Amino acid sequence: MSGPAQHGIRLSTGSNPTKENSVPESTDGTTTTGERAPGPEGKFLFGALSSFQKDTLKLLLELQRQYGGISRVKLGPYEVHQITEPEHVKHVLQDNAKNYVRGKFYRGFNLFFGRGMLTTDGAEWKAKRAVSQPFFHKVKLRANAGIITDTTNDLLEKWAKPSADKEPVDITNDMMWLAMGVLGTMLLGVDLRDWSDRLMPAVRFSFKAMILTGEVKQMLPRWIPTKYQRDLKRYQQDLNDVMDEIIELHRNGGGRPDDLVNALLAARKENGDPWSQREIRAELKTLFLAGHETTGCGLTWTLYAIAQYPEVRRELEAELAGVLGGRVPTAEDLTSLPFLRQVVDEALRLYPPIWLFPRDAVADDTIGGYHIPAGSTVLIPPYAAHHNPETWDNPEAFDPKRFCPAHQGGAEGQGQQNRDRYAYFPFGGGARKCIGMDLALLEIQLAVAMIVQRYQLSLVPGHPVTPGALVSLRPLPQVLMTITPVTQPAAATR
Ligand code: HEM
Repeated sequence: MSGPAQHGIRLSTGSNPTKENSVPESTDGTTTTGERAPGPEGKFLFGALSSFQKDTLKLLLELQRQYGGISRVKLGPYEVHQITEPEHVKHVLQDNAKNYVRGKFYRGFNLFFGRGMLTTDGAEWKAKRAVSQPFFHKVKLRANAGIITDTTNDLLEKWAKPSADKEPVDITNDMMWLAMGVLGTMLLGVDLRDWSDRLMPAVRFSFKAMILTGEVKQMLPRWIPTKYQRDLKRYQQDLNDVMDEIIELHRNGGGRPDDLVNALLAARKENGDPWSQREIRAELKTLFLAGHETTGCGLTWTLYAIAQYPEVRRELEAELAGVLGGRVPTAEDLTSLPFLRQVVDEALRLYPPIWLFPRDAVADDTIGGYHIPAGSTVLIPPYAAHHNPETWDNPEAFDPKRFCPAHQGGAEGQGQQNRDRYAYFPFGGGARKCIGMDLALLEIQLAVAMIVQRYQLSLVPGHPVTPGALVSLRPLPQVLMTITPVTQPAAATR
C-alpha cells in the first residue's frame, strides 16, 4: 500500500492512526485467488483523481455502467474498488464484515467527529454503540414523536411571515434547523437551535473539509498558517466548545435525567473508569454531525422531489386528507399512510444523503472472483447502486410506486420482496447500519406530512439545484422555494 503522501497527493490526513483503525500492510498476496477487477487505466500518476475531484458522482455512475458490479480505479496513490452488485455489498457489510474496517478514507472524518462511534472499530466501537443504542429503540422514539411534531410546528409558524410576504425561503437551511431542533431535544435534552449560529457554519465547513480530495490546501502541513488551516481550527474549536457547554450544563443538573448526555456521563468502561471529557465530546459530535446534516438533506430532497412532481403531490395530499383530515399526525398514523412512506423511500433512493462510504480490507479477499488486496479500499456508493439501470427501471425518475409492496416491494421494514436487500441501502447495513435510521424515517415522514398539509412548496424558477457530493449529498447551491398556504383540507394545527 502506498504511503499517504507519496506522489505529493494525499487523500487522507489521518494523523497517528491508532491500532484499532490501522490497516496492516499488504501481505504477499498469495492467500487469495482472483484476477484484477476491470476498470479504466487512467493517467499514470493520478489515475482518475481529477475526474473524482471534478464530478465525483458522474465518475461513480460511469464506473458502474461501464464495468458493472465491481470495478477498479486509481485515485491518486490508491487503487480502490467500487462495488454496487448487491451480493458484493452484502459480502462486505455483512458476510465478511470482520475483514473490513473504517480505514484510510474514514480518517478525514476524525478531524471533526473525533474518535466516536462512527470512526472506530472492534471493541472500542462496540462499547460506544452500546451506550447510545437504547435511545434509538422504536418504542422510545415513537413515545417521543411529539417532539418531532412540535418542532415541525415551530417551523410552520416561522414560515407564516415569508408565506404572507411571498418571500422565498432557503429550504435546506430550514430543514437543517428542524433536524437540529429534533436531535437536540430528543437525544441530548437541550435545544441545539440555541447554538445554531455557531453550529451551522461549522457543519458547512466540516462537511467539505472531511472529504480529503488531495487539494493543495488540504495537503500543506497543519502548522502553516493558511486561511484554510485557520478556519479548520476555528470550526473544530466551535464544535468542541458547544459540546463542552452541553456537557457542563448536564454536569450541573441540566438536560433531562434520562437523556443521552447523562447516560454518557454515567457510563463506565470495562475497568470501571468513567468516559473522559474528550470521549464524551467525540460521541456528542458524532451523533450531532451524523444525525443532523443527513436528516436535513433527506427532508430537503423529499420536499424538492414532491415539488417537482405535481402528480405525486396530489396523491400524497389525498392520502393525508383521507387519514388525517388536516390534523397533526402521530407515529401510529404512519401505518395508514403507505404512500407517504413510499415517497420518502424513493427520495432516499434518488438522493441518498450518504452517497458513498468506504471500507479497507484487513486481509486479502476475493469479491466476485476478483482479488482485493489487504489494506486496499472498497468504496460502497448507495448513489451508484440506487441509480443502477440493471436494478431500477428508468432510475433517474422519481417514482414512489416502485416501493409499493404490490409492485416491487418497499424499503426495509416494508419488505423488499422482489428486490435484493442490498440493492437499496440508504442507511448502510450489517452491524454498522445507521443507528439513527428509525429516528430519521419517523422524523421525515411526520414532518413531510405536516408540511404538505399546510403549505404548497414551489421551486423559484431560474434557481436550478444539483446534488453536491460533500460528506452528505447536499442540494447545491440552495433550494429556494415559495410557500403558499394550502386551504383544502383544513390546515394542520396542534
Ligand atoms: C436520512 C438520514 C440518515 C441517513 C441517510 C444516514 C445514513 C447512514 C449510513 C449510510 C451509515 C453507515 C455508514 C457506514 O457504514 O460506513 C450511517 C451510520 C451512522 N449514522 Fe446515520 N443516517 C441518517 C440519520 C442518522 C441519525 C438521525 C443519526 C443519529 C442521531 C445517525 C447516526 C449515525 C451513526 C452514529 C452512525 C455510525 C454507526 C456505527 O458505525 O455503528 N444517522 N448513517
